[in-house]
Amino acid sequence: MPRTLRELFVDQLRLCGLQASETVGVISELGQKTEYVDAAVAAARALGAGALVLTASSLSSPMLPPYTADGREVAALLAGAGECDLVIDVTVGGLIHSDVRTRITGAGKRMLFVAEPPDVLERLMGSADLRRVVEQGGDRLRAGSTLSVTSAAGTDLVADIAGPDLPITHQWGYVDEPGRWDHWPSGFVACFPHDGTAAGTLVLQPGDALIPWQRYVRDEVRLTVEKGFITEVDGGADAMLLRDYFESWDDPEVWALSHMGWGLLPAARWSAFDVYDPRTLYGQELRSTAGNFMWSTGSNRFADRETPAHLDIPMHGCTVSIDDVTVVRDGHLVEE
Ligand SMILES: [Fe+2]
Repeated sequence: MPRTLRELFVDQLRLCGLQASETVGVISELGQKTEYVDAAVAAARALGAGALVLTASSLSSPMLPPYTADGREVAALLAGAGECDLVIDVTVGGLIHSDVRTRITGAGKRMLFVAEPPDVLERLMGSADLRRVVEQGGDRLRAGSTLSVTSAAGTDLVADIAGPDLPITHQWGYVDEPGRWDHWPSGFVACFPHDGTAAGTLVLQPGDALIPWQRYVRDEVRLTVEKGFITEVDGGADAMLLRDYFESWDDPEVWALSHMGWGLLPAARWSAFDVYDPRTLYGQELRSTAGNFMWSTGSNRFADRETPAHLDIPMHGCTVSIDDVTVVRDGHLVEE
């Protein structure tokens, strides 16, 4: 029998190590996702913790410009969230790439974004095993100098990831340490290559995913990348639509490449956008498919790029290597 949202939040808050002495802050938007707010509060209380709901009138990142967020409300949210130990973000768009996230986690708070439908939350719940493989992937990235990706379709791209300060995102879907951010559910590792270093060609194939458009690529798209920016988008209908999307922002930053990494969660399925109503999904299942190569565009808080324009693009059938170590071969994870 499917579990209730409240029961799922109880499991999740246990994974997060929530203590009865702690307070959970829930950031929401007026009238949106109220069942998630109620479930998070009920679960925190069931574990003996305190719960505070912080509701802004609107914080969403729209899919197309213009983008607006009320600075006064953000300041008040930060003040409230700063008094909490674990902040649960149930806003529609998520405060993923925003300054709000950086300031909450920078103060040592745990922050968890939740957006997927309940059965996706249940089926892809994180675990200690997943946590371990994600950390192993992060160790590989940290030790490496060059990330390279190739595919039979013609993808051939490299990026500089050298040095101990490389920003690495480990996502196993729960927040069990101070200052940690995650998105429930997740199962991937990614890094932000040194800005301006990615170069080569990315060739999208039908079946690759465009997030948050929540659909599959329909025809081949060939993207030329120079000095970290997309300089050409060639192909058919999807190439035209991608160019239209990038151009709509009238901002050179949206053409930048952002994070790159690979999926690690065997339970996550490529078919999810066809099995579910894709507009009810946030795309975590596609981001997490085992053996994907996922890259992204636009926002990058490590390069002071806060544009809300951001595509995550998981690709199948790629080979990903860190220096001379192959971590994904032809779209399949290479066992350690
Ligand atoms: Fe992303």
